[in-house]
Amino acid sequence: MDALTDLKAKYLSGISAASDEAGLEELRLAALGKKGEVSLKMRELGKMTPEERQVAGPALNALKEEIDGALRAKRAALADAALDERLKAEWLDVTLPGRPRPQGTIHPVSQVTEEVTAIFADMGFSVAEGPQIESDWHNFDALNIPPEHPARQEHDTFFMARAEGDNRPPHVLRTHTSPVQIRSMMANGAPIRVIAPGRVYRMDMDQTHAPMFHQVEGLAIGRDISMANLKWTLEEFCRAFFEVEQVDLRFRASHFPFTEPSAEVDIRCSWAGGQLKIGEGDDWMEILGSGMVHPKVLSAAGVDPEMWQGFAFGMGIDRLAMLKYGIPDLRAFFDSDLRWLRHYGFAALDMPTVHGGLSR
Ligand code: PHE
Repeated sequence: MDALTDLKAKYLSGISAASDEAGLEELRLAALGKKGEVSLKMRELGKMTPEERQVAGPALNALKEEIDGALRAKRAALADAALDERLKAEWLDVTLPGRPRPQGTIHPVSQVTEEVTAIFADMGFSVAEGPQIESDWHNFDALNIPPEHPARQEHDTFFMARAEGDNRPPHVLRTHTSPVQIRSMMANGAPIRVIAPGRVYRMDMDQTHAPMFHQVEGLAIGRDISMANLKWTLEEFCRAFFEVEQVDLRFRASHFPFTEPSAEVDIRCSWAGGQLKIGEGDDWMEILGSGMVHPKVLSAAGVDPEMWQGFAFGMGIDRLAMLKYGIPDLRAFFDSDLRWLRHYGFAALDMPTVHGGLSR
């Protein structure tokens, strides 16, 4: 029976030394597997005399059970240790205070664009769009600005490059949102009521000019739309936008090739104490250009000027933002300075509506 004692010592110490599941399985096969050492000994029982078998049988069974028991115990111990390891690794201090998420803000240009859109949407205008890289025809010719017209020089245009040998007029970075008038009328005909906010480009840079800035175009074409409708629409807009009871607008005769008659519009304001106030005082601030759409513009866009007429206007969104929110320098709008954005930015998710308040 010494052989059994040796086997027992060998396997029990092996099991206790095993460090993983694979090692245990190897030991199990070596002892209790089909060709394992204990199993082979079991097979020898058949060749023994009944007397021998009576002693050897129970001893072998006991050994088998002991090894089996040791294997189970060790397997459970290994699983416990693994769980302990995992719990240690995944430990989390739930009493730590939460980390505040960095909070972004809405840029004043986006805010004002939303405000303007909300006001005009309330008056039945939908939003139209056009490309920022625009054909020379849409940006100028169709708006009654032929190639030699002096207005072309005044626009300080950025031109796109053409491939060598391509002699067509180059595309331009649109100098105003007025080409969207043409695109909207060509796409949808008349009657039509749209606004078109977006980026425009001119070679210009100082405290109140940037080479890229934002305009919003307005266009209303119908059978009998007149200057009176233009005046009411703009007054209504200014009252809503500046959130004041009373606004005074001054329509000053002007000239744009694409409107006839044309008017620039000033708003009454005061600069008392260096602080701008809209709706009171003796100063006037220009805020937009406007007029009755020129018959040639209607024709160029495929709308019959004998049947249709209406007004258009264009105003600077950045300028509106500076006026309403007291922001002195336009260039800071596009510096991406986080301190500026935090100071002048608006809370995300507060959508401006006319009834719910534009700016709160
Ligand atoms: N497009 C003109 C500008 O950029 C503004 C304007 C638009 C004037 C529509 C009249 C009518 O200055």
